[in-house]
Amino acid sequence: MPEPAKYKILEELGAGGMGKIYKGHLVGHADFQRPIVIKQLKHADEPGHVKLFVEEARRYAVLDHENIGRIFDFEQVQGQLCIILEYIDGWSVVEFLQRHEALGCLPDVEMSVFIVSRVCRALQYVYEKSAIVHRDISPSNIMMTREGTVKLIDFGIATHSGKRESSLTGKPAYMAPEMVVEMRADNRSDIFSLGAVLFEMLTLRRLFLGNTTTEVLEQVIAGQSPSPRSYNPSISDDVMSILRRALQRDPEKRFESAAAMGEACEHFLYDKGYGPTNLTLKQYLTRLYPEGAAADRDFDSEGPTYFPVIQASLIPIGEGFTMSAMGAPKPVPVKRDAGETPVSPTAFTPLTAPMHTPAPDTLAPDPGPETKALEKLGKTLSKSSQAGTKTVVAGGKKKARAAKRS
Ligand SMILES: Nc1ncnc2c1ncn2[C@@H]1O[C@H](COP(=O)(O)OP(=O)(O)OP(=O)(O)O)[C@@H](O)[C@H]1O
Ligand SMILES: [Mg+2]
Repeated sequence: MPEPAKYKILEELGAGGMGKIYKGHLVGHADFQRPIVIKQLKHADEPGHVKLFVEEARRYAVLDHENIGRIFDFEQVQGQLCIILEYIDGWSVVEFLQRHEALGCLPDVEMSVFIVSRVCRALQYVYEKSAIVHRDISPSNIMMTREGTVKLIDFGIATHSGKRESSLTGKPAYMAPEMVVEMRADNRSDIFSLGAVLFEMLTLRRLFLGNTTTEVLEQVIAGQSPSPRSYNPSISDDVMSILRRALQRDPEKRFESAAAMGEACEHFLYDKGYGPTNLTLKQYLTRLYPEGAAADRDFDSEGPTYFPVIQASLIPIGEGFTMSAMGAPKPVPVKRDAGETPVSPTAFTPLTAPMHTPAPDTLAPDPGPETKALEKLGKTLSKSSQAGTKTVVAGGKKKARAAKRS
């Protein structure tokens, strides 16, 4: 009698630039079942992609940290090579942002900084353990469990720190300038990307917007960004300075490590003696994703406090965010529930800014021949022969520099 399959695919959770993600079960003896995630390579017939996939599995294998999604196995499932991962029962930061949009509220500032501080811990661990950089820090690659643990996932395009590439790799909207201009990423590039994620969590607006990948890359190179306070006046000076430091164009001026950025976040969170914990995040998520009408009523009855709409203006990232010019009103203090939870429904600051829009795909390293060129920016972008994977081909480097000079 043939052995029953060890891994059973149940449903698709999502599809990214590199592969498809399924929810599944590990099936053991006596009806033993454990939920898992099965990551299947999208283009298993492409040797370059298979090589990256194998490298991803190997990189994952040595990582064991509370704030990183764990790998269980690397196996064939239904004849396809798959990475078997811990199932994270919770939400990605994309879903977190979308949920706030749906409620018409901005994410709580402390909660956002808390989430970022845990990603810093994960990044520092990875860097110390293997000297690799993630290169794909973005809202879809940060998850939170129902229990309030933050998990960094998806090491599909991680690489050795400082390594120069021949192609542009990562999600354009979260790329550090040097990833675009020099096609090089080190640990400080992840810090910039995390700064871009924090900006988006605080404002529900993406740092670099554009209708096309090229337009987004132009924004990254130009380094112009609106003040986050023009979207969320409740951002304190401490948080502004964390953002400003993370988003410096010059890597030398950023936090020197994820540990340093994490420390700055934790100073802000805990200097006053108490601050958010996993439990606080759990409570926040429970409010954000309430089950049943009673919880929904909670949001309605509390009634949000509205901030005036303030027009955004462009300022260079390297020179910091100019706040006084924005005429931003004083931050409105967040009310706390008496007793245990520091996150009350009023912590859901109402929106005054444009809604969040879905992020473009991750650009995968170029595994195959160039097939299509896109212009503008004076840079050649191309889609690889595999649908859904956007790649910038060799040659982009010189042209990106030229674009920067012009
Ligand atoms: N271990 C996991 N547990 C639960 N859900 C997961 C897990 N890994 C991924 N997901 C979900 O599947 C989605 C798709 O993941 P995937 O990394 O394939 O795509 P992506 O992040 O949207 O794009 P990209 O590949 O460009 O990063 C994630 O955003 C997340 O919602
Ligand atoms: Mg991903």
